Amino acid sequence: MSSRVALVSSERGLRVDPDLPLAAPALREAGFAVDCVRWDDPAVDWSGCDLAVVRSCWDYAWRRAEFLAWADAVPRLRNDAAVLRWNTDKTHLRDVAAAGLPVVPTVWDPAGTADLPDAEEWVVKPSVSAGARDTARWTDTGDVLAHVAQLTAAGRTAMVQPYQASVDDAGETALLFLGGRFSHAARKPPMLGRGEGVRQDRSGRRGVRPAPATPEQRDLAQAVVDAAAVLVPGAAPLLYARIDLVADAAGRPVVLEVELTEPNLFLPHAPAEALPRLVRAVGDAIAA
Ligand SMILES: Nc1ncnc2c1ncn2[C@@H]1O[C@H](COP(=O)(O)OP(=O)(O)O)[C@@H](O)[C@H]1O
Ligand SMILES: [Mg+2]
Repeated sequence: MSSRVALVSSERGLRVDPDLPLAAPALREAGFAVDCVRWDDPAVDWSGCDLAVVRSCWDYAWRRAEFLAWADAVPRLRNDAAVLRWNTDKTHLRDVAAAGLPVVPTVWDPAGTADLPDAEEWVVKPSVSAGARDTARWTDTGDVLAHVAQLTAAGRTAMVQPYQASVDDAGETALLFLGGRFSHAARKPPMLGRGEGVRQDRSGRRGVRPAPATPEQRDLAQAVVDAAAVLVPGAAPLLYARIDLVADAAGRPVVLEVELTEPNLFLPHAPAEALPRLVRAVGDAIAA
């Protein structure tokens, strides 16, 4: 009997996730029985899946506790619940920095101007978020602190970072790992417009292009993937990972985001080898 694989999405993800229409047929062709399902669909029999693969569960950001409780209850989940618990709150970037890896400088819940990182422009974001929701860039410290106050009043942790000017020209480089190994890279355009304030309707996928990754970028991203395995005790090997890097003022790569939960894999922009790699990684995870 063929192994059952659930590709786990959300109401919106099932409609617009660009990876599912490529991943599902590739897995079926390889002999897996594949269902694309919502994580919050009570009709799904998770114990009947040989592997449930978290993909476009984009609504976890405002339902995190419910999402993690669901993850705890799914027997064979990748990435697994321990990884999701660690990764769905960007406070994990402290662990990554503490492991000696370069991360965009971040101040957490600043109380006043004196706490802000030295910069001419800042980004404010909540520690639990996806798709640049509740995220904005500001040139005025009053706006920065007002945004922080709004997030903390809602019980959220606020992050303030210097706006990395390189993003405006070079964008972000997203490095995709499948089965723990580098697969491909893509360039993401800037998401935050100056003076735009907080917007909820940004689409991160517009303007994504395949891009080469430099050896320096690959080494850093691999080091982050390797560190994650140590930073999350008891975690199952990562089925997928996306490490988003930007260049700092000196042009060196630094980590902007570690996406081990529901990274868009940019499969429509990936080289032909990416799909077979994904299929192999799924097979290996089932066999493990
Ligand atoms: N410090 C920063 N400098 C420049 N751009 C940033 C910075 N932080 C976030 N951004 C922009 O905001 C987007 C969303 O932020 P990110 O940290 O990736 O969180 P998420 O993707 O989970 O919403 C990024 O893709 C990037 O375009
Ligand atoms: Mg991001």
